[in-house]
Formats: sequence, structure tokens, C-alpha cells
Amino acid sequence: MTNQPEPRPGLLDIMAYRGGIADAPGFKAPVKLSSNENCFGYSDQVRHTIADASASLERYPDGGALNLREALAKKHNLDKERIVCGCGSDEILQLIGRSYLRPGDEVLFSAHGFLTYKLIALQNEAVPVMVPEDNLCANVDRMLAAVTTKTRLVFVANPNNPTGYMMPKADLVKLHAGLPKEVLLIVDAAYAEYVDDDNYSCGMELSRKFDNVLTTRTFSKVYGLAGLRIGWAFGPQQVIDVLNRVRSPFNANRLAQAAAITALGDEQFVQKSAEHVRKWRKWLTDEIGKTGINVYPSAGNFVLLGFNNDAKKADAAEKFLMDRGLILRGMRGFGLPGFLRLTIGLDEQNRTFANALSEFMASY
Ligand SMILES: Cc1ncc(COP(=O)(O)O)c(C=O)c1O
Repeated sequence: MTNQPEPRPGLLDIMAYRGGIADAPGFKAPVKLSSNENCFGYSDQVRHTIADASASLERYPDGGALNLREALAKKHNLDKERIVCGCGSDEILQLIGRSYLRPGDEVLFSAHGFLTYKLIALQNEAVPVMVPEDNLCANVDRMLAAVTTKTRLVFVANPNNPTGYMMPKADLVKLHAGLPKEVLLIVDAAYAEYVDDDNYSCGMELSRKFDNVLTTRTFSKVYGLAGLRIGWAFGPQQVIDVLNRVRSPFNANRLAQAAAITALGDEQFVQKSAEHVRKWRKWLTDEIGKTGINVYPSAGNFVLLGFNNDAKKADAAEKFLMDRGLILRGMRGFGLPGFLRLTIGLDEQNRTFANALSEFMASY
């Protein structure tokens, strides 16, 4: 016993999550390409909605987010009773951990799956099982082979952050089919709108059909509302019922709910954002590839750059770019020293980045 309040076992082993850097010393308006945000900001229609909704902030939001759930249900052809909204999709992922994990349970995901999955396991005294990948691509057979009687949750980010890997639909179906019915599969489709591939599934079809698949989505990426914190999940009724019991009563705030409804209706903004990303993702992938850096095919609004596992070189590149006002995300905290992640920016920012990167490669 110590003489001070003691947290639950394992909590002090957790490295607190750190977001992407926002400042570059000496630059008033640096180019922030470190957090997979929307380079276009957010819809003008949403701007007006927020101004209107801010007139009544003295009032609590609708705790059940009914209007937003109805709008989501209509747009995606879903049952509104099987949708829950959250303070970002991150909150929903956390609630899943809190609701379903017991000490010693195993939480399975591919080795460079989204960082939060490991934190969720550790926060709940569960064991993260990080399944080795093939060149940063999830291997479903290996994931299935790692399932034990202790496996409780399986997380798949599709596409995955930070690798950009998209798990093909056939693999996702195979993964689900191989899991025991009592294991919950969570398909985290934060970047779904950026995918441009017929073999994609965001998990929704599986969630419609099966009692053990939950799909999470967010307004933080293609809708550009990361700062408002609003996400949602669709899944089996009994899982949604559990989440509704454990979430805080007003977890989706008033502005966020109103903004999200308007954002859903502004299809032009979403289309413009998605098309921009697809166009520049290809261009950047080609340009980065020409410099000799390993660039990984990405289905998200970001690209992962590999410096042949040379952490020193990746750090030097990060600094070189930072000195030019370009902020990327170093990947040490993601278990990938020797890598940097670039969020796709505006036309000119992407060109400036590509020029700076080839300058770095020529000089290093
Ligand atoms: C794969 C993935 N899932 C979930 C999230 C959380 O998003 P939010 O909580 O903003 O909805 C992120 C954020 O970057 C992400 O990359």
C-alpha cells in the first residue's frame, strides 16, 4: 500500500495520447499536415447552423440525439434505434472497452492498427494482442490464428490509420466468419468516405446482419468537424442498448448535433473533399515514390512515408520540413520510428511539401 490514491493496475503504463503538433517555431501560419484533418475546413452551411444553434446554449442538448439519428438513418438506410452518437467516434470506442472488457481479456488488432485500441485494452486491464502484419498490411489468417478463448474484442480500422491500409471486403467477411459469436468485431470506418475501391466494406453490411459487428463512423474527417467532437456507431440492438446505458447522458453536444445534421445534407462539400483527397493522394504517392522513400498505398486522407526504418533520417526529414513551416506527424508513438505521416493538404501545400521533400532527400 502506498500513502496516496492508487489508480487501477496498468494505468500508469499507458502513454497519454498526444495529438499532432500544431506549431512550427517562427511561423505564424504553419501548414498543419499532422492530424488527418480536412484541408477545406468545413461546410459554409454548417457555419450558419452553428451560429443559429449557439443562440440557445443555455439549453441541454437532446440526450438521445434523435434528429441526428434520424438524419443518419435516412442517409444510410439504417434503423435509427440501432444508432448511437458520441463525443467523437473515439468515445464510442472507449465505451466499448469499458462495457465489454474484463481484466485479462484479450483485445485483438493488427500490429499497426489505430493507436487507441491498445489504450482501450490497457485502460481496462485487458491484454492487447497485436498481430504481425505483412509489410504494414493486416493478415486475416494470422489474426484468426491469434484468437483464443480470452479474445473479447477485435478492432479493424478500415482504412487503417496510420498505415492507410484498406482491408478488402472478402478479408473482412472472412475475419468475421472465423470469429466466435461471442467476440465483438468493431469496424472503425473513420475514413470510409475517402475510399475509392469496389472491394471496400465499411462494415455496415455486416453490422446489419450479425449480432457481433459494430461499425463506427465520424464527422471529424470528410465533414471537417473534428473540433466539435461528434461520431456515431451502428450495430446490433443489444450492443447499442449497452452503450446507451454507459454513455454520459449528454455526450453529443448541442452545436455538434445541429452541425452534423446540416453537414450530412451538404453533399457537395463531402464530394469536393473526397475528390480532392483521391486526386492528391495519387499525385503525392507518385511524387514521394520518385524520391526513393517507401510510400504505402493509402485509402485515407493521409499517406505514410517510410525511410527504410532509419529513424534518424525520418527525424531529420521531420525537422527539415518543420523548418519550412510544414508539420508532419512523426510515427514513434505509433511504434513506427523511421516513418512520417502526411495529411493531404491544399493544392499549393502539397506541391510545397513535395518540393521540400525532394530537397531534403537530395541534401541528406
Ligand atoms: C482510425 C481512426 N478511428 C477513430 C478516430 C477518432 O476519430 P474521432 O474521435 O474524431 O471521431 C481516428 C482519429 O484520427 C482514427 O484515425
